[in-house]
Amino acid sequence: MEFNEVVESRRSIRDYQEKQVKDELLEQIIAAASLAPSWKNSQTARFHIVKSPEMLSRFKAECLPEFNAKNVANAPVVIVVSFVKDRAGYDRNGSPTNELQNGWGIYDAGLASENLMLKASELGLATLVMGIRDEKKIRLLLDIPANETIISVISLGYGQTKMERPVRKSFDDLCKIY
Ligand SMILES: Cc1cc2nc3c(=O)[nH]c(=O)nc-3n(C[C@H](O)[C@H](O)[C@H](O)COP(=O)(O)O)c2cc1C
Repeated sequence: MEFNEVVESRRSIRDYQEKQVKDELLEQIIAAASLAPSWKNSQTARFHIVKSPEMLSRFKAECLPEFNAKNVANAPVVIVVSFVKDRAGYDRNGSPTNELQNGWGIYDAGLASENLMLKASELGLATLVMGIRDEKKIRLLLDIPANETIISVISLGYGQTKMERPVRKSFDDLCKIY
């Protein structure tokens, strides 16, 4: 697929087929995420992949609000994106390099997440980023250590329906030229 086609084909999908995603595709998707740039190549983004039927149904029931659980009801994979805190945006002596502090860890994980979602689109897979999730329950269920900050949950699977793209802002709305 051409780059533009990949970018334009990515859409938030809230309806999935009951079809498994091969491990080989998952590996390609995570490899694409790992190619994203990161603060001093610190690579602090982490991906907690939930795909066993038992964990998946517990995750959807316990860690997502009802509307998001419904959005991803048949999705065969959910990925919790987190990052190891106090590294990206920090000097060797542990002090923050500038005012954004751990905001850089979130930034890096966002870059990696977009790579992940674009690769998924290229492979014909659908995704949905969910920021509305229960951080405490996720941490408990997946035993995510305290040094990782949990960010989003991304569903992954084969889409059931095509979605309309919500309207985007114009160049003039988004940019200021100096
Ligand atoms: C940080 C973030 C959090 C989001 N959280 C949710 C969510 O909890 N539930 C949901 O249905 N969509 C969620 N979305 C999806 C957005 O609504 C969607 O990306 C936006 O409407 C643009 O649509 P598109 O992704 O199809 O281009 C989230 C997206 C982002 C980037």
